Amino acid sequence: MKKILLAGLCLLALLVPALTACNSGGNGSGTPSENTEGLIVIGFSQVGAESDWRLANTKSMRETFTEANGYKLILKDAQGKLENQITAIREFIAQKVDYIVFAPISEEGWEDVLTEARKAGIPVVIVDRMIKTSDDSLYTCWVGSDFHKEGDTAVAWMEATFQDKADLKIVHLQGSIGSSAQIGRTDGLGAGADRNAGWDVIYRATGDFTQVKGKEVMEYVLKQFDRIDVLYCENDNMAFGAMEAMDMAKRTYGINGDTQIISFDATRAGLDATIKGKITYNVECNPLHGPRVEAIIKQLEKGETPDKLAYVEEVAFDAATITQEVIDARMY
Ligand code: AHR
Repeated sequence: MKKILLAGLCLLALLVPALTACNSGGNGSGTPSENTEGLIVIGFSQVGAESDWRLANTKSMRETFTEANGYKLILKDAQGKLENQITAIREFIAQKVDYIVFAPISEEGWEDVLTEARKAGIPVVIVDRMIKTSDDSLYTCWVGSDFHKEGDTAVAWMEATFQDKADLKIVHLQGSIGSSAQIGRTDGLGAGADRNAGWDVIYRATGDFTQVKGKEVMEYVLKQFDRIDVLYCENDNMAFGAMEAMDMAKRTYGINGDTQIISFDATRAGLDATIKGKITYNVECNPLHGPRVEAIIKQLEKGETPDKLAYVEEVAFDAATITQEVIDARMY
């Protein structure tokens, strides 16, 4: 009798995970929760909520992948941690979602989990940032920004604007280290500093794309340096934090101040600061990826092959020429 009971328990232990794994919907923990009949199930692993850009990106995904549009979106916020993102993707694989979509926190660290996704036969769409891999069969396709181009755009503007200056003292506030957004924008400034003998990057540190850390780093920087000609700031939120620090320290910035701020994202709030002359130059990074990812998924559903890499068109805004109409038309 004992033996029969034991065998029964063993069978149950084998069946439960298998049944769980067969469910394509779920509540993100691998347990069945809702009926996803007739819906395309998307597991989306988001970086976190570090910036206005990121919030706009999450909103765009949520507004696109609704049940009314035929989707079940399982959104997992990785809170800025690579390990959380990898765990989320493993859960999506266990849940047998129809598509895995993710915005990589960093470029490195994806080979193992994406190999698992490939083995499970789940298409992977990378969005926003990119990953570094020698095997591009690990993902189906990517859509996002050309972060190197963004950095180059900012630096071309600096070269034109400061060409008559013999020397330039630059403070560089970086985004989250290892992310494509940080790498591309940082490489741009690095190449500019190599080309221009007078450019002196006097301080460089990460503010992790957040307002709080941007402020913290800038408070420290202002105590160290009396002269800062340029603050090259890798996103709007860090620029807002840095401006708070400069206001508190009674240091002037913007088109009529001592420090010219160059920022990235060009969110509505960032452009408000630009038209007011607080940010001198702002390079756009477009977060409205929901419809772009949906277009890819529709192609895949029809058996078509989407472009492997799709770069979003982006522009830049100069405080001297930006108009209110541009800001009013801004969706984020
Ligand atoms: O990957 C895009 C970057 O990530 C944005 O510039 C930044 O604001 C965000 O957090």
